Amino acid sequence: MFDYLAQFIQDKYNTSSFIPLHEPRFIGREKDFVSSTIDSTFVSSVGKYVDQFEDDLAKYTGSKKAIAIVNGTSALHLSMLMADIKPGDYVITQALTFVATCNAISYCQAEPILIDVDKHTLGLSPIALESWLDDNAYLDSDQVCKLKNSNRTIKACIPMHTFGHPVEIDTLEIICNAWNLALIEDAAESLGSLYKNTHTGTFGLMGTLSFNGNKIITTGGGGAILCNENLYSKGKHLSTTAKIPNNIHFVHDEVGFNYRLPNINAALGCAQLESIDTFVAQKRDLAHEYAELFHNSNLEFFTEPKNCRSNYWLNTVICDDLSQRDILLSSLTGKDIMARPVWTPMHKLPMFRNAIKDGLKNTSWLEERIVNIPSSLPPKLI
Ligand SMILES: Cc1ncc(COP(=O)(O)O)c(C=O)c1O
Repeated sequence: MFDYLAQFIQDKYNTSSFIPLHEPRFIGREKDFVSSTIDSTFVSSVGKYVDQFEDDLAKYTGSKKAIAIVNGTSALHLSMLMADIKPGDYVITQALTFVATCNAISYCQAEPILIDVDKHTLGLSPIALESWLDDNAYLDSDQVCKLKNSNRTIKACIPMHTFGHPVEIDTLEIICNAWNLALIEDAAESLGSLYKNTHTGTFGLMGTLSFNGNKIITTGGGGAILCNENLYSKGKHLSTTAKIPNNIHFVHDEVGFNYRLPNINAALGCAQLESIDTFVAQKRDLAHEYAELFHNSNLEFFTEPKNCRSNYWLNTVICDDLSQRDILLSSLTGKDIMARPVWTPMHKLPMFRNAIKDGLKNTSWLEERIVNIPSSLPPKLI
């Protein structure tokens, strides 16, 4: 079963050896830029590529500013601190996400509230969010959002653009504004994805990106925070050990973090970003070929939501049921083709088992059906 799919993938990647889910492609000036940091000795915390990468990212996404951070998880952590999330606060997110979203909430000693996703976006459902807030939250006399049964503060909401497909971010923004929730977008997977022609990660107060080796562009390890000018200064300060600029003395005015992206990683990022249009276009071509292949099969290939341009970071199949999912997984992995189910939803992980949650109907439905299939750029396309 599913031999046609395995054959298509092996032909596409021109190999019968192991095919990973997503590997990086270096088709531009990566070696030149990285070598130049070695030649200059500026491989670490400062250097021209950090500034250039931040400027290039801001320009590409249309954000006012971008802060280069050591990885996407730290970018999430720092953005939450910048949004003033305090120990004991609640932060709403989707149950179907990568664990880093919830881990970063825990780093702030806050707690996640887990809300369902939509089947047509795979991301946080505005309807589920609004209905949960109507039933469980209220605005106090200072217009602070509180949980009805404990009066604890609900501070923020973090939707995630799953596999690069944009969530309905404009509707979520309206709900967050009405409930006075800081909106932070986990756009780790969606560099290059647009919602109504605007880049994901630029709708909320902040958006975070990841440049891990499996993402659409990589800096080895890395991340970024998209934000406005005021938050930029705050974020730069906190990510640089909260050091007051001084050529001689070491003075730090609060507990800061060593979360800066090193120059050598930023150099890689600058070169990768030069290829982003090619990567997005070719990943979309690959997705269209998959969509055609699945058109006459009994499997559903997940396509971008309405009004969106998705980067199709990870191509996604929605199976009929759990048993078909498992057959698909074993049939591909048996042929050395990497295929993965979706993440275990957050409420099923031991550390978030007691989190407040809604019915999570779509989360459970999708958990049994999603399979990610190889999504790197095929060598012939490059
Ligand atoms: C949705 C999501 N959030 C956060 C992260 C964390 O990024 P990083 O691995 O760069 O820490 C990732 C990816 O790894 C992710 O997929």
